[in-house]
Amino acid sequence: MKIEENVSLRDLTTMNTGGKAKYFCRVCTIPELKEALDFVHKHSLPYFIIGGGSNLVFSDKGFSGLVIKMEIKSVVFKDKGGHVFVTAGAGVVWDDLVEETVERGLYGLENLSLIPGTVGAASVQNIGAYGTEVEEVIEQVEVLDIVTQKIKIFSHNECLFEYRKSFFKKEGKGKYIVVRVVFKLLKKSDVRLSYGSLKKVFDEKGISSPTPREIREAIIVVRKEKLPYDGDIGSAGSYFKNPIVSQDHYTKLLSMYPEMPGFSVSKSEVKIPAGWLIDNVCGLRGSRDGNVGTYEHQALVLVNYGNATTEEIKKFAEKIVACVKEKTNISLEREVEYVE
Ligand code: EPU
Repeated sequence: MKIEENVSLRDLTTMNTGGKAKYFCRVCTIPELKEALDFVHKHSLPYFIIGGGSNLVFSDKGFSGLVIKMEIKSVVFKDKGGHVFVTAGAGVVWDDLVEETVERGLYGLENLSLIPGTVGAASVQNIGAYGTEVEEVIEQVEVLDIVTQKIKIFSHNECLFEYRKSFFKKEGKGKYIVVRVVFKLLKKSDVRLSYGSLKKVFDEKGISSPTPREIREAIIVVRKEKLPYDGDIGSAGSYFKNPIVSQDHYTKLLSMYPEMPGFSVSKSEVKIPAGWLIDNVCGLRGSRDGNVGTYEHQALVLVNYGNATTEEIKKFAEKIVACVKEKTNISLEREVEYVE
Protein backbone atom coordinates (compact mmCIF):
# COMPACT_ATOMS: atom_id res chain seq x y z
CA MET A 1 0.00 0.00 0.00
CA LYS A 2 1.40 3.37 -1.06
CA ILE A 3 1.03 6.52 1.02
CA GLU A 4 1.08 9.62 -1.15
CA GLU A 5 1.65 13.17 0.02
CA ASN A 6 -0.16 16.43 -0.78
CA VAL A 7 -2.98 14.95 -2.82
CA SER A 8 -5.70 17.25 -4.17
CA LEU A 9 -9.06 16.69 -2.48
CA ARG A 10 -10.71 18.50 -5.37
CA ASP A 11 -10.05 15.39 -7.50
CA LEU A 12 -11.35 13.02 -4.83
CA THR A 13 -14.74 14.66 -4.27
CA THR A 14 -17.66 15.24 -6.61
CA MET A 15 -18.09 18.83 -5.37
CA ASN A 16 -14.60 19.46 -6.80
CA THR A 17 -13.47 21.78 -4.01
CA GLY A 18 -11.10 21.67 -1.06
CA GLY A 19 -7.36 21.84 -0.45
CA LYS A 20 -4.91 18.97 -0.23
CA ALA A 21 -4.69 15.89 1.93
CA LYS A 22 -1.32 15.81 3.69
CA TYR A 23 -1.33 12.04 3.24
CA PHE A 24 -3.51 9.83 1.07
CA CYS A 25 -3.82 6.09 0.43
CA ARG A 26 -6.16 3.54 -1.13
CA VAL A 27 -6.98 0.36 0.77
CA CYS A 28 -8.13 -2.73 -1.12
CA THR A 29 -8.04 -5.28 1.73
CA ILE A 30 -8.57 -5.40 5.50
CA PRO A 31 -4.80 -5.88 6.17
CA GLU A 32 -4.16 -2.72 4.08
CA LEU A 33 -6.74 -0.85 6.12
CA LYS A 34 -4.99 -1.96 9.33
CA GLU A 35 -1.67 -0.82 7.85
CA ALA A 36 -3.15 2.62 7.16
CA LEU A 37 -4.44 2.84 10.73
CA ASP A 38 -1.01 1.82 12.07
CA PHE A 39 0.52 4.71 10.09
CA VAL A 40 -2.02 7.09 11.61
CA HIS A 41 -1.32 5.89 15.17
CA LYS A 42 2.43 5.89 14.71
CA HIS A 43 2.41 9.52 13.56
CA SER A 44 -0.50 10.65 15.80
CA LEU A 45 -2.49 11.88 12.81
CA PRO A 46 -6.19 12.32 12.24
CA TYR A 47 -7.67 10.17 9.49
CA PHE A 48 -10.75 10.32 7.34
CA ILE A 49 -12.33 7.52 5.30
CA ILE A 50 -13.78 8.39 1.92
CA GLY A 51 -15.81 6.38 -0.56
CA GLY A 52 -16.81 8.15 -3.76
CA GLY A 53 -16.38 11.57 -2.11
CA SER A 54 -19.90 12.41 -3.21
CA ASN A 55 -21.33 13.71 0.04
CA LEU A 56 -18.30 15.55 1.39
CA VAL A 57 -17.01 19.08 1.33
CA PHE A 58 -13.39 19.40 2.45
CA SER A 59 -12.01 22.68 3.77
CA ASP A 60 -9.92 24.86 1.43
CA LYS A 61 -7.11 24.42 3.96
CA GLY A 62 -7.12 20.72 3.16
CA PHE A 63 -6.83 17.84 5.62
CA SER A 64 -3.84 17.60 7.95
CA GLY A 65 -3.86 13.81 8.36
CA LEU A 66 -4.38 10.67 6.26
CA VAL A 67 -7.32 10.41 3.86
CA ILE A 68 -8.06 6.72 3.29
CA LYS A 69 -9.97 5.80 0.16
CA MET A 70 -11.94 2.61 0.78
CA GLU A 71 -11.50 0.24 -2.15
CA ILE A 72 -12.41 -3.18 -0.72
CA LYS A 73 -14.32 -4.52 -3.70
CA SER A 74 -15.44 -8.15 -3.69
CA VAL A 75 -19.10 -9.09 -4.28
CA VAL A 76 -20.47 -12.54 -3.33
CA PHE A 77 -24.00 -13.83 -4.08
CA LYS A 78 -25.57 -16.61 -1.95
CA ASP A 79 -28.88 -18.17 -2.89
CA LYS A 80 -31.19 -19.08 0.03
CA GLY A 81 -34.82 -19.96 -0.70
CA GLY A 82 -36.67 -16.95 -2.05
CA HIS A 83 -33.79 -14.64 -1.19
CA VAL A 84 -30.31 -13.91 -2.39
CA PHE A 85 -27.80 -12.60 0.13
CA VAL A 86 -25.26 -10.28 -1.42
CA THR A 87 -22.07 -9.48 0.46
CA ALA A 88 -20.37 -6.45 -1.02
CA GLY A 89 -17.10 -4.75 -0.09
CA ALA A 90 -17.44 -1.21 1.27
CA GLY A 91 -15.47 0.14 -1.70
CA VAL A 92 -17.75 -1.28 -4.40
CA VAL A 93 -19.20 1.56 -6.47
CA TRP A 94 -22.84 1.72 -5.43
CA ASP A 95 -24.36 1.87 -8.87
CA ASP A 96 -22.17 -1.01 -10.13
CA LEU A 97 -23.71 -3.15 -7.40
CA VAL A 98 -27.23 -2.03 -8.32
CA GLU A 99 -26.54 -2.85 -11.97
CA GLU A 100 -25.22 -6.31 -11.09
CA THR A 101 -28.24 -7.18 -8.93
CA VAL A 102 -30.66 -5.88 -11.56
CA GLU A 103 -28.81 -7.89 -14.22
CA ARG A 104 -29.54 -11.00 -12.12
CA GLY A 105 -33.23 -10.02 -11.90
CA LEU A 106 -33.12 -9.39 -8.14
CA TYR A 107 -35.47 -6.95 -6.41
CA GLY A 108 -34.41 -4.53 -3.67
CA LEU A 109 -31.83 -2.06 -4.95
CA GLU A 110 -33.40 -0.93 -8.25
CA ASN A 111 -35.06 2.21 -6.80
CA LEU A 112 -31.63 3.35 -5.65
CA SER A 113 -30.17 3.37 -9.16
CA LEU A 114 -27.59 5.98 -10.16
CA ILE A 115 -26.98 7.28 -6.63
CA PRO A 116 -23.32 8.28 -6.47
CA GLY A 117 -20.94 6.84 -3.88
CA THR A 118 -19.94 3.46 -2.55
CA VAL A 119 -21.51 0.54 -0.66
CA GLY A 120 -19.89 1.54 2.65
CA ALA A 121 -21.12 5.11 2.43
CA ALA A 122 -24.58 3.91 1.41
CA SER A 123 -24.92 2.03 4.71
CA VAL A 124 -23.42 4.77 6.90
CA GLN A 125 -25.64 7.37 5.28
CA ASN A 126 -28.73 5.16 4.78
CA ILE A 127 -29.17 6.47 1.25
CA GLY A 128 -32.67 6.80 -0.08
CA ALA A 129 -34.61 7.75 -3.17
CA TYR A 130 -37.94 7.11 -4.88
CA GLY A 131 -39.74 5.68 -1.89
CA THR A 132 -36.95 3.39 -0.67
CA GLU A 133 -34.17 3.56 1.91
CA VAL A 134 -31.27 1.16 1.68
CA GLU A 135 -31.76 -0.01 5.28
CA GLU A 136 -34.87 -1.91 4.11
CA VAL A 137 -32.59 -4.48 2.47
CA ILE A 138 -29.54 -4.35 4.74
CA GLU A 139 -29.19 -7.61 6.66
CA GLN A 140 -25.95 -6.79 8.46
CA VAL A 141 -22.90 -4.55 8.34
CA GLU A 142 -19.35 -5.77 8.97
CA VAL A 143 -16.96 -3.27 10.48
CA LEU A 144 -13.38 -3.03 11.67
CA ASP A 145 -13.21 -1.99 15.30
CA ILE A 146 -10.53 0.71 15.40
CA VAL A 147 -9.37 -0.13 18.93
CA THR A 148 -9.26 -3.94 18.83
CA GLN A 149 -8.60 -4.09 15.06
CA LYS A 150 -11.05 -7.02 14.95
CA ILE A 151 -14.03 -7.50 12.65
CA LYS A 152 -17.39 -7.00 14.33
CA ILE A 153 -20.83 -7.68 12.89
CA PHE A 154 -23.75 -5.32 13.40
CA SER A 155 -27.21 -6.77 12.78
CA HIS A 156 -29.74 -4.59 11.00
CA ASN A 157 -31.28 -3.48 14.31
CA GLU A 158 -27.93 -2.64 15.85
CA CYS A 159 -27.23 -0.22 12.97
CA LEU A 160 -29.97 2.14 14.31
CA PHE A 161 -30.93 3.40 10.89
CA GLU A 162 -32.84 6.66 10.52
CA TYR A 163 -33.44 9.11 7.67
CA ARG A 164 -29.91 9.59 6.22
CA LYS A 165 -28.35 8.40 9.47
CA SER A 166 -27.05 5.28 11.17
CA PHE A 167 -25.14 4.29 14.31
CA PHE A 168 -21.92 4.68 12.27
CA LYS A 169 -22.64 8.36 11.70
CA LYS A 170 -23.52 9.00 15.36
CA GLU A 171 -22.21 7.13 18.43
CA GLY A 172 -20.15 4.78 16.28
CA LYS A 173 -18.37 7.56 14.41
CA GLY A 174 -14.61 7.27 14.75
CA LYS A 175 -14.93 3.84 16.41
CA TYR A 176 -15.72 1.58 13.49
CA ILE A 177 -14.98 1.44 9.77
CA VAL A 178 -17.47 -0.36 7.53
CA VAL A 179 -15.72 -3.02 5.45
CA ARG A 180 -18.60 -5.11 4.05
CA VAL A 181 -22.37 -4.92 3.83
CA VAL A 182 -24.77 -7.86 3.46
CA PHE A 183 -27.99 -7.20 1.53
CA LYS A 184 -31.04 -9.46 1.52
CA LEU A 185 -32.64 -9.25 -1.91
CA LEU A 186 -35.72 -10.92 -3.33
CA LYS A 187 -36.08 -13.15 -6.36
CA LYS A 188 -39.80 -12.41 -6.61
CA SER A 189 -41.43 -9.12 -7.48
CA ASP A 190 -41.46 -6.56 -4.68
CA VAL A 191 -41.79 -3.27 -6.51
CA ARG A 192 -42.16 0.08 -4.79
CA LEU A 193 -43.80 2.52 -7.16
CA SER A 194 -45.57 4.84 -4.73
CA TYR A 195 -43.25 7.79 -5.42
CA GLY A 196 -45.02 10.41 -7.56
CA SER A 197 -42.70 10.75 -10.54
CA LEU A 198 -42.08 7.00 -10.71
CA LYS A 199 -45.74 6.06 -10.48
CA LYS A 200 -46.48 8.45 -13.35
CA VAL A 201 -43.95 6.75 -15.64
CA PHE A 202 -45.46 3.28 -15.17
CA ASP A 203 -49.08 4.48 -15.18
CA GLU A 204 -48.44 6.13 -18.54
CA LYS A 205 -46.85 2.92 -19.87
CA GLY A 206 -49.68 0.81 -18.40
CA ILE A 207 -47.18 -1.44 -16.59
CA SER A 208 -48.25 -2.55 -13.09
CA SER A 209 -45.51 -5.04 -12.25
CA PRO A 210 -42.26 -3.87 -13.85
CA THR A 211 -39.02 -5.82 -13.72
CA PRO A 212 -36.06 -4.45 -11.73
CA ARG A 213 -34.47 -3.56 -15.09
CA GLU A 214 -37.53 -1.50 -16.13
CA ILE A 215 -37.54 0.33 -12.80
CA ARG A 216 -33.81 1.01 -12.99
CA GLU A 217 -34.16 2.41 -16.49
CA ALA A 218 -37.10 4.64 -15.50
CA ILE A 219 -35.19 5.96 -12.49
CA ILE A 220 -32.11 6.70 -14.54
CA VAL A 221 -34.26 8.85 -16.86
CA VAL A 222 -35.93 10.70 -13.94
CA ARG A 223 -32.66 11.27 -12.07
CA LYS A 224 -30.87 12.55 -15.15
CA GLU A 225 -33.66 15.08 -15.68
CA LYS A 226 -33.39 16.39 -12.11
CA LEU A 227 -29.77 16.03 -11.05
CA PRO A 228 -26.48 17.12 -12.58
CA TYR A 229 -24.60 14.25 -14.20
CA ASP A 230 -22.48 16.44 -16.43
CA GLY A 231 -18.86 15.90 -15.44
CA ASP A 232 -18.09 19.63 -15.66
CA ILE A 233 -20.52 20.58 -12.90
CA GLY A 234 -19.47 19.75 -9.36
CA SER A 235 -22.15 18.77 -6.83
CA ALA A 236 -22.71 16.65 -3.75
CA GLY A 237 -26.34 15.70 -4.42
CA SER A 238 -28.90 17.02 -1.96
CA TYR A 239 -27.10 19.64 0.10
CA PHE A 240 -29.74 19.75 2.86
CA LYS A 241 -32.01 17.19 4.46
CA ASN A 242 -35.74 17.50 4.10
CA PRO A 243 -36.79 19.13 7.39
CA ILE A 244 -39.31 17.53 9.73
CA VAL A 245 -41.62 19.99 11.49
CA SER A 246 -44.59 19.73 13.84
CA GLN A 247 -48.05 19.41 12.35
CA ASP A 248 -48.90 22.82 13.90
CA HIS A 249 -45.94 24.48 12.25
CA TYR A 250 -46.89 22.91 8.93
CA THR A 251 -50.51 24.05 9.25
CA LYS A 252 -49.35 27.63 9.87
CA LEU A 253 -47.06 27.51 6.84
CA LEU A 254 -49.89 26.14 4.69
CA SER A 255 -51.92 29.24 5.39
CA MET A 256 -49.11 31.29 3.83
CA TYR A 257 -48.08 28.77 1.16
CA PRO A 258 -51.12 26.63 0.31
CA GLU A 259 -49.19 24.61 -2.29
CA MET A 260 -46.47 23.50 0.12
CA PRO A 261 -46.06 19.68 -0.06
CA GLY A 262 -45.79 17.76 3.20
CA PHE A 263 -45.52 14.06 4.03
CA SER A 264 -46.66 12.75 7.41
CA VAL A 265 -43.84 10.90 9.15
CA SER A 266 -45.68 10.39 12.44
CA LYS A 267 -48.97 11.51 14.01
CA SER A 268 -47.56 14.90 14.88
CA GLU A 269 -44.75 15.46 12.38
CA VAL A 270 -44.51 16.38 8.72
CA LYS A 271 -41.54 16.20 6.35
CA ILE A 272 -41.30 19.09 3.89
CA PRO A 273 -39.14 18.97 0.74
CA ALA A 274 -36.28 21.43 1.28
CA GLY A 275 -35.98 21.79 -2.50
CA TRP A 276 -39.54 23.10 -2.63
CA LEU A 277 -38.79 25.70 0.07
CA ILE A 278 -35.60 26.90 -1.63
CA ASP A 279 -37.41 27.04 -4.97
CA ASN A 280 -40.88 28.34 -4.12
CA VAL A 281 -40.40 30.23 -0.87
CA CYS A 282 -36.99 31.76 -1.57
CA GLY A 283 -37.12 31.76 -5.37
CA LEU A 284 -33.57 30.49 -5.48
CA ARG A 285 -33.77 27.57 -7.97
CA GLY A 286 -31.18 28.14 -10.67
CA SER A 287 -29.78 31.20 -8.89
CA ARG A 288 -26.06 31.77 -9.27
CA ASP A 289 -23.40 33.71 -7.43
CA GLY A 290 -20.10 33.56 -9.31
CA ASN A 291 -18.94 29.96 -9.40
CA VAL A 292 -21.70 28.63 -7.14
CA GLY A 293 -25.42 28.13 -7.63
CA THR A 294 -28.44 25.93 -7.12
CA TYR A 295 -29.13 23.48 -9.93
CA GLU A 296 -31.72 24.72 -12.39
CA HIS A 297 -33.82 21.53 -12.18
CA GLN A 298 -33.49 20.82 -8.44
CA ALA A 299 -32.93 23.65 -5.96
CA LEU A 300 -31.74 21.27 -3.24
CA VAL A 301 -28.55 20.62 -5.16
CA LEU A 302 -25.73 23.17 -4.89
CA VAL A 303 -23.45 23.20 -7.88
CA ASN A 304 -19.86 24.25 -8.52
CA TYR A 305 -19.74 25.73 -12.01
CA GLY A 306 -15.97 25.75 -12.18
CA ASN A 307 -13.38 26.88 -9.73
CA ALA A 308 -15.50 27.49 -6.67
CA THR A 309 -13.79 27.28 -3.31
CA THR A 310 -15.33 25.50 -0.34
CA GLU A 311 -15.67 28.91 1.33
CA GLU A 312 -17.82 30.17 -1.57
CA ILE A 313 -20.01 27.07 -1.40
CA LYS A 314 -20.45 27.45 2.37
CA LYS A 315 -21.35 31.14 2.05
CA PHE A 316 -23.94 30.37 -0.60
CA ALA A 317 -25.38 27.58 1.58
CA GLU A 318 -25.61 30.02 4.52
CA LYS A 319 -27.57 32.44 2.36
CA ILE A 320 -30.10 29.69 1.61
CA VAL A 321 -30.36 28.64 5.25
CA ALA A 322 -30.94 32.27 6.30
CA CYS A 323 -33.69 32.79 3.72
CA VAL A 324 -35.58 29.62 4.63
CA LYS A 325 -35.26 30.46 8.33
CA GLU A 326 -36.51 34.00 7.87
CA LYS A 327 -39.52 33.03 5.79
CA THR A 328 -40.59 29.77 7.46
CA ASN A 329 -38.76 29.58 10.79
CA ILE A 330 -37.35 26.24 9.64
CA SER A 331 -33.65 25.58 10.28
CA LEU A 332 -32.33 23.52 7.38
CA GLU A 333 -29.80 20.88 8.34
CA ARG A 334 -27.03 19.89 5.99
CA GLU A 335 -26.99 16.50 4.36
CA VAL A 336 -23.44 16.94 3.11
CA GLU A 337 -20.63 16.59 5.61
CA TYR A 338 -18.05 19.34 6.15
CA VAL A 339 -14.54 18.06 6.82
CA GLU A 340 -12.03 20.45 8.41
N1 EPU B 1 -39.31 20.56 -5.60
C1 EPU B 1 -39.51 21.82 -6.05
N2 EPU B 1 -38.43 22.52 -6.50
C2 EPU B 1 -37.18 22.02 -6.49
C3 EPU B 1 -36.98 20.72 -6.00
C4 EPU B 1 -38.07 20.00 -5.56
O1 EPU B 1 -40.63 22.34 -6.09
O2 EPU B 1 -36.27 22.72 -6.90
C5 EPU B 1 -40.48 19.77 -5.15
C6 EPU B 1 -40.79 18.65 -6.15
O3 EPU B 1 -41.64 19.08 -7.18
C7 EPU B 1 -41.48 17.64 -5.27
C8 EPU B 1 -40.76 17.79 -3.94
O4 EPU B 1 -40.17 19.10 -3.95
O5 EPU B 1 -42.81 17.97 -5.05
C9 EPU B 1 -39.70 16.73 -3.72
O6 EPU B 1 -38.71 16.78 -4.75
P1 EPU B 1 -37.94 15.46 -5.27
O7 EPU B 1 -38.92 14.44 -5.66
O8 EPU B 1 -36.96 15.90 -6.30
O9 EPU B 1 -37.21 14.90 -4.00
P2 EPU B 1 -36.41 15.59 -2.80
O10 EPU B 1 -37.20 15.37 -1.56
O11 EPU B 1 -36.02 16.98 -3.13
C10 EPU B 1 -35.13 13.43 -2.13
C11 EPU B 1 -33.72 13.04 -1.80
C12 EPU B 1 -32.90 12.86 -3.08
C13 EPU B 1 -33.57 11.80 -3.94
C14 EPU B 1 -35.00 12.29 -4.25
C15 EPU B 1 -35.78 11.31 -5.10
C16 EPU B 1 -33.33 14.14 0.36
C17 EPU B 1 -32.62 15.23 1.08
N3 EPU B 1 -33.12 14.07 -0.96
O12 EPU B 1 -35.09 14.72 -2.74
O13 EPU B 1 -31.64 12.37 -2.72
O14 EPU B 1 -32.86 11.57 -5.15
O15 EPU B 1 -35.71 12.48 -3.00
O16 EPU B 1 -36.33 10.33 -4.33
O17 EPU B 1 -34.02 13.35 0.99
C18 EPU B 1 -29.36 12.90 -2.28
O18 EPU B 1 -29.57 12.46 -1.14
O19 EPU B 1 -28.25 13.37 -2.63
C19 EPU B 1 -30.48 12.93 -3.22
C20 EPU B 1 -30.37 13.46 -4.42
